[in-house]
Amino acid sequence: MAKSSAQKIEVHEGKDLKWTASAKKKVEKILSKYPAEQSRSATIPLLHLAQKEFGGWVSVDAMQLVADTLNLPYIRVYEVATFYTMFNLKPVGKYHVQVCTNCACMIRGSSKIVETVKDVTGLKGQGGMSDDGLFTLTEVECLGACVEAPMMQINDGYHVKLTPESTKEILEELKSGKAVESTTPSKGLEIFDGK
Ligand code: FES
Repeated sequence: MAKSSAQKIEVHEGKDLKWTASAKKKVEKILSKYPAEQSRSATIPLLHLAQKEFGGWVSVDAMQLVADTLNLPYIRVYEVATFYTMFNLKPVGKYHVQVCTNCACMIRGSSKIVETVKDVTGLKGQGGMSDDGLFTLTEVECLGACVEAPMMQINDGYHVKLTPESTKEILEELKSGKAVESTTPSKGLEIFDGK
């Protein structure tokens, strides 16, 4: 999903990042899916991998690492990372809560889901992090689960047919350190992280 041109771009400096040994294997697996002369096509999968490896966001250094891996100028990775909403350009909480507020979800009460997320987490709006460092809220457009609206994605998992009560329950469980099973766990990222 493309970012709106009005969106403020914030890019934080990271550290001098290197792929871990296990991430290197994933990088090789990802690169093996593309002809060598088309390796730049792996930019998005490698950005997804970098985001997962380095705390849920892509810093300048993470983008540079992807660029070095693909032998591309930094700007080529930067322009991709800053175009798509799925790449976070600043740190997010342990749980990135993305509530769909597109048509089907809106008609079925997504605004109440957003309000519930704010109430439970203490977040005032989108972006930023809750005081306990656990949560970041983002409103997103269609996540492709319209038939089960309203829904939200927390990290890689989908939570569907939400009510304010079920939303509160999920967030409270996460706050108390319990693992919450998602109703339709996403398999999509497995493609990107080389599994
Ligand atoms: S409108 Fe919410 S998932 Fe499609």
